[in-house]
Amino acid sequence: MSDPRMTPRDHSVGAPLWLLAELTYRCPLQCPYCSNPLDFAAHRDELSTDEWIETMRQARAMGAVQLGFSGGEPLVRDDLEALVAEARQLGFYTNLITSGLGLDEARIVALREAGLDHIQISLQAGDAEVAAAVAGSPKAHAKKLAMARAVKSAGYPMVLNVVLHRHNIDDLDAIIALCDDLGADAVELANCQMYGWAQLNRAGLLPSRAQIEAAEATTARWRATLAARGRDMRLLFVVPDYHEDRPKACMGGWGAIFMTVAPDGTVLPCHSARDLPMRFPRVPEHSLAAIWYESAAFNRFRGDAWMPAPCRDCDERHQDHGGCRCQAYLLTGDLSATDPVCDRSPDHHLIEAARAEADGEARSLGELVSRNARESRVF
Ligand code: SF4
Ligand code: FES
Repeated sequence: MSDPRMTPRDHSVGAPLWLLAELTYRCPLQCPYCSNPLDFAAHRDELSTDEWIETMRQARAMGAVQLGFSGGEPLVRDDLEALVAEARQLGFYTNLITSGLGLDEARIVALREAGLDHIQISLQAGDAEVAAAVAGSPKAHAKKLAMARAVKSAGYPMVLNVVLHRHNIDDLDAIIALCDDLGADAVELANCQMYGWAQLNRAGLLPSRAQIEAAEATTARWRATLAARGRDMRLLFVVPDYHEDRPKACMGGWGAIFMTVAPDGTVLPCHSARDLPMRFPRVPEHSLAAIWYESAAFNRFRGDAWMPAPCRDCDERHQDHGGCRCQAYLLTGDLSATDPVCDRSPDHHLIEAARAEADGEARSLGELVSRNARESRVF
């Protein structure tokens, strides 16, 4: 055990169930809430096809059952079909998380033949103008709609994901109507969570309380309408953490069930951890099992011995695990702090201040910093 990044194995730690394979940070779009790290442009290396296959094999051998292919835009990898076929062979349930750009009818058929189970396409807005402003591409919206229709007609169960923020949330009625028209089986109305580029743009993205309440009412009205029509389209509305008083159990707990492998093989407990001042091991330098069970990074926030007050003595600490480590760090600069979303946190005033700011004037859509390599920050 000479490597200080590795620690003795704790045999009470369970296996990962979920592997998110971030195949690439490359993407044709420039969303100002991109979940890729701020310094994504500093990480250009990508695992080879064989290295991804070996990583998937190891994850499956450890017990992982669900595999998401994401990015960046995973369709920019021309080995995606080969990776899906291998994942299927290994027995994973597979999900493609895509903008829809890079997809065409031939690729939809090829992915189907390779055994892909499920496709999730993201939409930026209900109308082309806002979508173009958010994605930084005038043509992307029409392409996404065409691909959503093609995915549906190819027989896939289709989830549409719409990231909500203060510049599109008031248009929720039209967004849900569009998803209905496209034949979605489920719609994730996921309010933007404030990590990476979204955190950089928080003042221009966070909706006001009144906007959230109106959107919840619209969602409830649509649920009733859909049920009355016998239309089975599930609507999942995710409230932004900043409008809650208890934190989420992020990722089900640090190193509990979920792991992300970044394009260059860095293994992370969540997709935002790369922005933390920590060192995470890589495959193939270490095996996935060694990283999961023995790395100092994965063991650092397991259990509750690391928790400060008030989490340390709190009766909810085994439900939310003290909240999100990335959010705690981004807001307080302290990796171990109680997530300020919690109203028991001594830092909860930071959340209240952000809410108050969101209830006032905010930056216009045009003032947001789009994800781009030039401004990608290397810390
Ligand atoms: Fe969760 Fe900590 Fe808040 Fe308790 S004090 S509810 S453990 S974040
Ligand atoms: Fe990283 Fe919550 S997003 S721990």
